Parts: sequence; C-alpha cells; structure tokens
Amino acid sequence: MPDPARIVIDTDPGQDDAVAILTALASPEFEVLGITAVAGNVPLELTARNARIVCELAGREDVPVFAGARQPLRRPLVTAEHVHGRTGLDGPDLPDPTMALDGRPAVSWLIDTLRAEPKGSITICALGPLTNLALALLKAPDIAARIGRIVLMGGAYFEVGNITPAAEFNIYVDPEAAQVVFRSGIPLTVLPLDVTHKALVTRARNDAFRALGSPAGVAVAQMTDFFERFDLEKYGSDGAPLHDPCVIAWLLAPDLFSGREINVEIETLSELTRGMTVADWWRVTDRRPNALFVGDVDADGLFDLLTDRLSRF
Ligand code: BDR
Ligand code: CA
Repeated sequence: MPDPARIVIDTDPGQDDAVAILTALASPEFEVLGITAVAGNVPLELTARNARIVCELAGREDVPVFAGARQPLRRPLVTAEHVHGRTGLDGPDLPDPTMALDGRPAVSWLIDTLRAEPKGSITICALGPLTNLALALLKAPDIAARIGRIVLMGGAYFEVGNITPAAEFNIYVDPEAAQVVFRSGIPLTVLPLDVTHKALVTRARNDAFRALGSPAGVAVAQMTDFFERFDLEKYGSDGAPLHDPCVIAWLLAPDLFSGREINVEIETLSELTRGMTVADWWRVTDRRPNALFVGDVDADGLFDLLTDRLSRF
C-alpha cells in the first residue's frame, strides 16, 4: 500500500459500519478519499445520513459523502432494521448531520476518481451490499484494472448464513452485484462470517470502548450495546460480532488474520440458497482462485487495535 493508503469506503451504516468508518478516520495510515453510501441495513436516505453523522462524530466534515444505489441491481431491497434499529444507527443519541451530501452520484464519482488517480493506487473497503461497485464496473469496465484491491465484508462458508440458512446479509441483498465483483478479476480480500463471528464485543471489550470517555468511544460502546441484544438472543454468544471493522483492521494489521487464496462463486439462481458464497476452501475444483477468503482472527489483537485507534479521537 502507498503511504498513507488511499481508500474509498462503500457502506450502509449500520453500527458496525460506523465503527469501521471511525477506525479508518482515526488511522494515519489512511487517506479516506470519500464515503459512498448504499442501501442495505436501512434505505439509502438513512445510510447517507448515518455516514455523515459518523463523519461529524469524528470531526471530519471534510470527507465527502456520496449517495449511491437505492436498490439492488435486479431485486427489491431487503433491509435489517431487526438488527440495527429503525435508523440503522440506534443506540447513541447523535445529532442530525449538518454537513451536506456531495451532490455527485456515488457511482459517477467512483468512476471519475478511479480514472483520474494512478492505476492501482486506490483500495475499496466494501461494508455493505455490492451494488455501487457493480454498477460502476458495469458502466465503466476499464476501472477494474485501476482498483488496487477490494476488501469486503460478506459471505460465509463454515459459519453459513445469518439472513437465510445459506447466505450472509450483504451478499444476499444483491447477489447479482456480488457476482459482478467476484468475477471482475480485481484482487479481493473477503472477511466472511467465519471470521467476524469470532470478533465478539464481550462485556470487557465494550467497557474498554466506553472507558475511552470521548464522544466517539462512548458512542461506539452504545452502538455495540444496542445490537448486542439481537445477537445474544439469536446466537447466545458472548457478545455481538463486530463485522465491518474487520475490513479496516485487515488493512492495518493483516498478520492478525489468516485465510486462503481460493475460488469463490456466488449463487444467484436458487431461491433456497440465494447469495450463498460457494467457497472452494478445500480446493476440490480446478476453478481459479479469485479471493483471499479469511477464516480466522486474533480477536484480542483486533480489539486492542480498534480500541487504540478509537482512543485517538
Ligand atoms: C453485515 O450485514 C450488516 O448487517 C452489517 O453491517 C455487516 O456489513 C453482516 O452480515
Ligand atoms: Ca454493513
């Protein structure tokens, strides 16, 4: 990565997206060129709003936020208020944003930026359904060769589904878009549920966020408190999985993670297994590897890293 790494965050905030954005904005290793909002956890109006709330919480009104796709390529939108609450960012009581959206459509801005900047110099961090990225690739196939890497939260293999028995939410919402991205030939890193379900916000980790005492630290503790209630009921686990920050953490400290370069295909045809990531973990086909599929994380190291970064606000 160049120093600092130049990233675009494509996102549907979402409390865990918010923690990912805050971590990126707190890290001197990154220059965040822009944040592109997509419909996902909640409709686009709310994700575009939430992205600006998070920038303001970080004191970073200078980062442009763009509105992107309102719905998946070919399907009605499925949202996740049952996890994230009505606003998508339920938990802390944060003020409405005062910064305006950048008026340029997210997909056009993405295409123009990738064409204008040196080839391979931009990394895309994808934290929601992949609709914006697929639209950009379909409209301007030349940008595939210009993206350095896409690091995305999505999919599952051993852990299977969280929205259906077979599928993870981000891929399920727009499987056709995911297929475009997974077949694009762009270097991909995938953080699936296999790893994010090990990144649990235990009580001690939540307390460490709150003990930071800053508005950002306290808000992160309140956000993770909020969605914990859902995961505790559903999985009976030790705390809620903090999915999307794994994307940012992988870029900051890849040694905390391990995975395999394998082939991953997306199921788009079956209603039963729509959005399943068919991951050739055991390399039983001769299909060409197209992704680094991450399977494990040093969870204590991950939370130490996140807490350290958030302490910089
Ligand atoms: C993913 O879906 C969303 O609910 C989260 O923000 C995360 O990106 C986890 O399946
Ligand atoms: Ca997300």
